[in-house]
Amino acid sequence: MRILVLGADSSVGSCVLSEARQLGFECLGTSRRTDACGGKINLDLLQPQTWEESFAWKPSVVIGCLAISNLKECEGNPQSRVVNVTAICELLDRFGRNGARTIFLSTNSVFGGDRDHGGEDEPVAPKLAYSRQKAEAERNFLAAAAQRGGARNASVVRLTRVLTPSVAPFPMWTKDLLSGKKIEAFTDFVFSPISCRYAARGLLRIGEAAEGGVFHLSGEDDLSYFDFAELLARYFKRGGVRPATAVARGVDLLFKPSHSALGMARTSRLLGIQPQQPSSVIAELAEEWAKAA
Ligand SMILES: NC(=O)c1ccc[n+]([C@@H]2O[C@H](COP(=O)([O-])OP(=O)(O)OC[C@H]3O[C@@H](n4cnc5c(N)ncnc54)[C@H](OP(=O)(O)O)[C@@H]3O)[C@@H](O)[C@H]2O)c1
Repeated sequence: MRILVLGADSSVGSCVLSEARQLGFECLGTSRRTDACGGKINLDLLQPQTWEESFAWKPSVVIGCLAISNLKECEGNPQSRVVNVTAICELLDRFGRNGARTIFLSTNSVFGGDRDHGGEDEPVAPKLAYSRQKAEAERNFLAAAAQRGGARNASVVRLTRVLTPSVAPFPMWTKDLLSGKKIEAFTDFVFSPISCRYAARGLLRIGEAAEGGVFHLSGEDDLSYFDFAELLARYFKRGGVRPATAVARGVDLLFKPSHSALGMARTSRLLGIQPQQPSSVIAELAEEWAKAA
């Protein structure tokens, strides 16, 4: 496999690139930062003249990690739709026409936060601009691939929250727990975290597969930030987690899902990938923090 990671400066893309390198794949990343490319190809989604170098590299698998993923920015900036829908679909379609397997990264939030373990084939119901853009791009991306007869070579991969070692507030919580300080975590905010290594390995496995369509990479279940903080404290054999609520603290969250975990029946059946357990997410984070210390 000759893997191109579009948006290799993103938190997910940088993990995919480093995991692909570690696993010995031939791989390359793109960056829009002309000043700090660091071995990556320059590619700006909004400047199609910059796309040619990445076509010339002739990847066999293309993983599209670039996006405007800030929820507030998507609500207020119409340009975000150009990045998240129009341009990314056009770019991936060009790679598909050149014979590459293409992967579009999407999100569990296309289900609007109401569906418990929504499956790969269940209807979406996005509420936020970001999620509506992702849902629209999923449809356009898959329709374009089907139209050119490349449906088996095009995959949408919906991810739940991906935790890299630097995602807040977890490094700070861990530091505080280890130094005996108390931490406060919300009981009324759920997520279903996965580690970046799990996400990266899952994406690479999907890149190798002879099947297209929708795949899910998810944590096993919904859990609150408080539940996760307690597991983190237990891992480090510490106490000191205090429950709080976002409501009582007056924290205005733009997206407060009732459910976050995705169903993975199709993904597990076709590829043997199981949902990730929180204990495995924490063990991987702890390993990365230990390496960085
Ligand atoms: N992280 C998660 O928990 C999560 C969960 C579900 C789905 N996803 C999906 O996974 C993908 C990656 O997410 P992420 O959190 O890793 O993203 P991220 O860290 O927010 O990075 C987004 C990347 O897109 C690049 N980008 C934005 N506009 C661009 C343009 N016009 N041309 C070229 N590059 C551009 C940014 O470049 P700069 O670095 O130069 O700004 C940045 O590197 C996204 O599609 C997201 O929707 C992520």
